[in-house]
Amino acid sequence: MRIFASLLKNANPKIEYYSRFSPSPLSIKQFLDFGEDNACEKTSYMFLRKELPVRLANTMREVNLLPENLLSQPSVKLVQKWYMQSFVDLLDYENRKPEDTVALNDFLELLIEIRNRHNDVVPTMAQGVIDSNTQYFLDRFYTNRISFRMLINQHTLLFGNDTNPAHPKHIGSIDPTCNVAEVVRDAYDTAKMLCEKYYMAAPELKIEEFNMKNPKKPIQAVYVPSHLFHMLFELFKNSMRATVELHENSSEGLPPVKAKVTLGKEDLSVKISDRGGGVPLRKIDRLFNYMYSTAPTPSLEPGTVPLAGFGYGLPISRLYARYFQGDLKLYSMEGVGTDAVIYLKALSSESFERLPVFNKSALRHYKTSPEADDWSNPSKEPRDDTFDSTHN
Ligand SMILES: Nc1ncnc2c1ncn2[C@@H]1O[C@H](COP(=O)(O)OP(=O)(O)OP(=O)(O)O)[C@@H](O)[C@H]1O
Ligand SMILES: [Mg+2]
Repeated sequence: MRIFASLLKNANPKIEYYSRFSPSPLSIKQFLDFGEDNACEKTSYMFLRKELPVRLANTMREVNLLPENLLSQPSVKLVQKWYMQSFVDLLDYENRKPEDTVALNDFLELLIEIRNRHNDVVPTMAQGVIDSNTQYFLDRFYTNRISFRMLINQHTLLFGNDTNPAHPKHIGSIDPTCNVAEVVRDAYDTAKMLCEKYYMAAPELKIEEFNMKNPKKPIQAVYVPSHLFHMLFELFKNSMRATVELHENSSEGLPPVKAKVTLGKEDLSVKISDRGGGVPLRKIDRLFNYMYSTAPTPSLEPGTVPLAGFGYGLPISRLYARYFQGDLKLYSMEGVGTDAVIYLKALSSESFERLPVFNKSALRHYKTSPEADDWSNPSKEPRDDTFDSTHN
């Protein structure tokens, strides 16, 4: 413990130093170009040994701005310790030359160690940060984490021994010819298994494609399939739950969930539509709040995968979509059903990472208290929220 404390002391000026650099966003095209033609491990090493501490330091400065009652929570402290340890570990490479092959190998192993250390950041934070004012922080904190893992995955997949024999055409975690409808089907199948386990039934899937560029060809994206899968899986789970809950006892069976995959000049979009009864407009925004869920609190027993209940599905999925300049939106018609649309950039050269930067305007978010609303507000909401629960 004492050694760690002294590391901390030395690390603080370094955090200060690295946080003054803004993270350098990369586009999917840049990731691809770099990985394709004889990717150079030394170049990647030189980039990452600075960029990773920069990204860590930027987010660590923001964690420090959280209110004291959050900072003192054990789960938040634990997460802070992981970040500090990883930051300190990376500093070891400041002066190790890229010509030193031992350094390159150690670095690669360290990245894997760091990735493993940070595996449980999301559920660990969830035990602590439950304040509604932390929405701004968590969006930025989790985006940073997504980006950090992206960089680590690219390096370890390109230069490590753990190359992926199942996907020889992938460049790191990127599939240059990702068949979108296939990912839709995979995500549906996985959600369907869960849904059947909970409800003994699941709605069917119908997929349609509209490819403006090449009407007869299936739509392909240059994208990280695991990110796309994550978003679709979350949307399918939500749609299935809503559909089954509404139609469980109806004699007509379950209305299918529909997926529409479209490609235009700028956007590649995927719409998931259900007839699960929808959500009133008044509540749509809060569905994106961390911890907002109408499902019972799921058990945290290892090995169990709940269909719903953490309230993280939508907000985290939207971060994945926004990470490469896309978005995720919900359009609902109460009484009938919901359309959820994932928007991605059609061009990999426009899919730049969207990264939080620690600067004055970020600081302002933490220092100012919320101002009074400048629109009139009805004092009472309709009281039909009996089944809502905000886990805290
Ligand atoms: N398609 C939908 N139809 C009706 N309600 C929905 C739909 N999608 C989301 N919701 C509502 O939004 C809430 C939040 O969704 P979200 O996916 O973020 O969390 P969750 O499903 O409750 O838990 P989990 O984190 O496990 O996904 C849900 O609990 C549900 O009430
Ligand atoms: Mg969900």
